Amino acid sequence: MLIAAELRGLLTPAQIAGLAVTWVDAGAPTPKGDYVAIVPLLTRWIGGTELKLLPKLRLVANCAAGTDNVDLVAAEMRGVAVTNTPDVLTDATADLTWALILASARRLAEGMDLVRAGRWTGWHPEQLLGVELRGRTLGIFGAGRIGQAVGRRALGFGMTLIYRSRQAKPDFERDTGARRVELLPLLRESDVLTLHAPATPDTKGVINAEALAQMKPGAILINTARGDLVREEALAIALEQGRLGAAGLDVYADEPRLHPRLLAAPRTVLLPHLGSATTDTRRRMAAIAVANVQAVLAGQAPLTPVFR
Ligand code: GLV
Repeated sequence: MLIAAELRGLLTPAQIAGLAVTWVDAGAPTPKGDYVAIVPLLTRWIGGTELKLLPKLRLVANCAAGTDNVDLVAAEMRGVAVTNTPDVLTDATADLTWALILASARRLAEGMDLVRAGRWTGWHPEQLLGVELRGRTLGIFGAGRIGQAVGRRALGFGMTLIYRSRQAKPDFERDTGARRVELLPLLRESDVLTLHAPATPDTKGVINAEALAQMKPGAILINTARGDLVREEALAIALEQGRLGAAGLDVYADEPRLHPRLLAAPRTVLLPHLGSATTDTRRRMAAIAVANVQAVLAGQAPLTPVFR
């Protein structure tokens, strides 16, 4: 089997016992051959060509919750199972989302720049004034596990919740008072809009110029889901024009490249895709990916299948 070499330090010998492992560096092309399973990082594209060059492949055990780096249709057509690593990264990603919400609302990046550049001249009553969260509305686009975990944390900050999701989430509504709305009211009513949907043909570019124009003046956009959800140039323009209050981003359309206009735009907090980056979570993600391989090779059902 093939495993991303970068996972080596996160796996114990017991977890890979009995597997004939070939470690593949992130920068190296996907090898061809008689491999039966592959554990790719989210940075490796597994499409029709890759699948064709791995004719014996039975499983793509993606080491991520998202699966937009895998051509799911091609995999299903070839009878290759695909698994992901849900649940274990929910809290880490929800925590990081809140780090971005707070950093964006309270202008942490600008404050840090001021101090580090030696430009801070002392306390001033109107310096770097931010947005108070209590009483404001948090809009959640995509209320799966992570979106709901972000919403549950919002209660501690006294925020009102609205969400957009294909299906109603009655438990979430009961526990948090969240109200399910369509996309337009979500855009119009959110003081902070946070994205938690996967990148699919339905969600790609959902935050485009038209959507941004519907948002409240001064609203904050947060994205810890996938960069493809946002049209980055349109976001940069909204920030340049001061229509949007701030953007806190962990993901980008063309990682690790950032749209130059977004990089130069004001009021951004930009992180390098750190959503699930805690030691505990990354260990659990690697463990689940390999446990899926062990299960499938032992003739059992995968633990966390993406399709059945
Ligand atoms: C991280 O972005 C993941 O999908 O696991």
